[in-house]
Amino acid sequence: MPRTIVVTSALPYANGPIHIGHLVEYVQTDIWIRFQRMCGHRCFYFCADDTHGTPIMISARTAGIRPEQLIEQVHQEHTADFDRFFVRFDNYYTTHSPENRAFSELIFHRLNQAGSIVKRDVEQTYCEKDQMSLPDRYVRGTCPRCGTPDQYGDSCEVCGATYRTTDLVQPRCAVCGTAPVFRLSEHYFFQLSDYEQPLRDLIAAGYTQKSVANKLEEWFSAGLKDWDISRDGPYFGFKIPGEESKYFYVWLDAPIGYMASAKNYCDRHGLDFDDLWNNPANELYHFIGKDIMYFHALFFPAILFGSGFKTANKLFVHGFLTINGEKMSKSRGTFIRASTYAQHLDPEFLRYYYASKLTDLVEDIDLGLADFIGKTNGDLVGKYANLASRSGPMLTRQLEGRLGTLDDEGRQLVLRLAGAREQIRRDYEGLDYAAVVRTISALADDANRYVEQKQPWTTIKTDRERTRTTLTAVLNAVRLLTIYLKPILPQFAQKVEKFLKVEELRFADVETTLEDRPIGVFERLFERIDEEQVTAMVEESKENQAPKPPAPAPAPAEPFKPECTIDDFAKIDLRVAQVISAERVTGADKLLRLVLDVGGVQKNVMAGIATAYQPETLVGKTVVFFANLKPRQMKFGLSEGMILAAGSGGKDIFMLSVDPGAKPGQKIS
Ligand code: MSP
Ligand code: ZN
Repeated sequence: MPRTIVVTSALPYANGPIHIGHLVEYVQTDIWIRFQRMCGHRCFYFCADDTHGTPIMISARTAGIRPEQLIEQVHQEHTADFDRFFVRFDNYYTTHSPENRAFSELIFHRLNQAGSIVKRDVEQTYCEKDQMSLPDRYVRGTCPRCGTPDQYGDSCEVCGATYRTTDLVQPRCAVCGTAPVFRLSEHYFFQLSDYEQPLRDLIAAGYTQKSVANKLEEWFSAGLKDWDISRDGPYFGFKIPGEESKYFYVWLDAPIGYMASAKNYCDRHGLDFDDLWNNPANELYHFIGKDIMYFHALFFPAILFGSGFKTANKLFVHGFLTINGEKMSKSRGTFIRASTYAQHLDPEFLRYYYASKLTDLVEDIDLGLADFIGKTNGDLVGKYANLASRSGPMLTRQLEGRLGTLDDEGRQLVLRLAGAREQIRRDYEGLDYAAVVRTISALADDANRYVEQKQPWTTIKTDRERTRTTLTAVLNAVRLLTIYLKPILPQFAQKVEKFLKVEELRFADVETTLEDRPIGVFERLFERIDEEQVTAMVEESKENQAPKPPAPAPAPAEPFKPECTIDDFAKIDLRVAQVISAERVTGADKLLRLVLDVGGVQKNVMAGIATAYQPETLVGKTVVFFANLKPRQMKFGLSEGMILAAGSGGKDIFMLSVDPGAKPGQKIS
C-alpha cells in the first residue's frame, strides 16, 4: 500500500549562510524522502527560511537594507546551496508569508479561546538609543554572581550562573554600547502546563527517540513553565491582532511555518491542505537537531493540541557535526559554508560520508577530514565507480555495447546482492544509514572480487562471449548497487541510469535483471579527492571570516560610552597596593583571589586576570588599586575594589604595575 508521507526539516535562520553543519540535517532528511519515493510512496518535503526576530532585524539595519530585502537575498542563496547538494524540497518557502500570518493568528486565537493565553507584566531591557527591547543575548554586562565582565544577559560563561537580564551589573546594549533602561511591558504567555498530560502521552507513545524522551522527563519533573510568546516592537515579525506594537515571538511562528509551506504548496497544486496535513491516515515527520528539542517536543505539539491540529507521528532528532573531533571553528577554517565546499569538492562525497556516519541516535557525528578523503577514494572511487569503469567501457568498445545473458555464477552474484534488499530497506526506514552503507560496501567488495576472479581484461583476448557473460553479471551488480545507493547519490544514479539506458531506478527494480540489451556510453562517475582540495577549502573558509577578533555574536564596532568629565574621573581613588597572596578560584577559570596590602589595610579582590597571570608570579608585585570602588558580594566571596588591568582577554591582559619601591597605600595620580 503506498503511504502518504509529509516530512519537514528545521527552518534555517535567514541571517546566515547554509554551512556543512546544517547539511547533516538536510542530507539526512533528503535521503529518507528519496528512499521512500523509490519505494513508491507519495512524499512531500517542506521547508522554509526562518525569517523573523531581532537578529535578522539588526543584520538588515547593519547592512542598511530592509529586512524584507535581506530575507529575499538569503532565500536565493539558501535555495542555491540546497540545489548544489541535491536537497530537493517540494516547497522551500518563507515564514514571512500570508499563509504563515494566517495560521499564526488562527492558532493564537484558538489558544486564547481555550484559555491557554494569559497576559502578565514583565520587566524588559530597552535600549533608548536603538529604540528597541533587547533580547537576552543583546545585553552584556558583569555577572551578578562572580563579577566577570562582559557576559550575556542570560548566563555567565565563567561561573555558569543563569539570571535575568535585569540582574546584570552595569548592563549595556550589545548593539550600541549604551546602558539600557528597564521598563514594564505587558506580554502574552502560553500556559504550557495546560498540556502536560497530552504531551506526556505523546512522548510515551514513542514520539521521539529514547534519549530524547529521557531529557523530556527531566523537563517535566522540573515543571513546565509558561512561555512568553510576544515581543515588543520594533520587531520583524507578525503583529499580534489587536495590538499596536506587539509581535509574535519568532519561535511561535517558525514551526507554524511548516504548515504554511505545505499550505502554499497545496494551493499551487490544487490539493486540500487539511486533507494532506490533518488527515490521520497520512504520516507526518519532523527532522531536527538536538539543540531545538524543547521547541519541537513541547511547545509546538502543545500549541497544536490547543488549536486542534494534528501532531506529527515522529520527531527525529540528530546530533551535531564536529570536524576532526572539534566544534566547527572559524579560526581553524572548519566553519565551512555549503557554497565553499561545493567550489572545491563534489557534494555527493559529503552526502555519502554523512550517510556512512548517520544512525538514529542523537549522537554527534564527526567529519574527520583524513577519514573523509580515505572513505571517498576507497568506497566511491575504488569500489563503486571502479566496478562500472572496469566493465562498461570494455563492453562498449569491444563487445558492441551489448549485454548477454547471465550464467549460473553470474546469477548467484546477482542473487547475493538482491538478497540484501530487506535489510537495506529496514535500515533506511529506521534511519540507520551507517548500516546501509556498510551493507552496500560489502556487496561491492563481493562484486569486485568476482571481477578479479574472472579477469575479463584477459579473457577478452581469447573468449569474447565468455567475457560478455562476465561483464553482464558485473553490470547487473552495478545496477543493483546503484538502486541501493540512489537515495544517497542521486547524481551518480542518474549517470548510471543513462549509461545502462534504463528508466529511473526504483526499489522494486531489485527484482529484475538486465540481459540481452544495449547499453549507452560510459561517463566518468567520480574523481579521486586530492588532499590539496581539502586544504584549499579549509584555507578559503579561514579567509571568508577575515581576521576578526573573537567578538560576541551581534556586536558591530562599539561606539563610545556617554561623555564623562575630569571631575568624574577624579572621584576614583587610585592607590599603590602590594600583592600579599594570590590563588585560583575553583569554578571560575578567569578569576584570581588576591589579598592586597594597601598601606596597613588588607583588601580582598577578585580579579579577572587568571587567563594571563600565574598566581604565584604575582606575590610581592606592586599594582594599581581602585580603592574606593563599592565592595560587592560575589559568588566566590566579597570583592573590595579592583586592580587596574587592560587587554582584549585571554593571554592579552596586562596589569598596570608601579615602581617596586613605591609604598603600599600611597596615592597615585
Ligand atoms: N530557525 C531555527 C529552526 C526553526 S524550526 C521551526 C534554527 N535554525 S538553524 O539555522 O540554527 O538550524 C537549522 C537546523 O540545522 C537545526 O535543526 C539545527 O539543529 C541544525 N544544525 C545547525 N547547526 C548544526 C550542526 N553544526 N550540526 C548538525 N546540525 C546543525 O535552529
Ligand atoms: Zn543600543
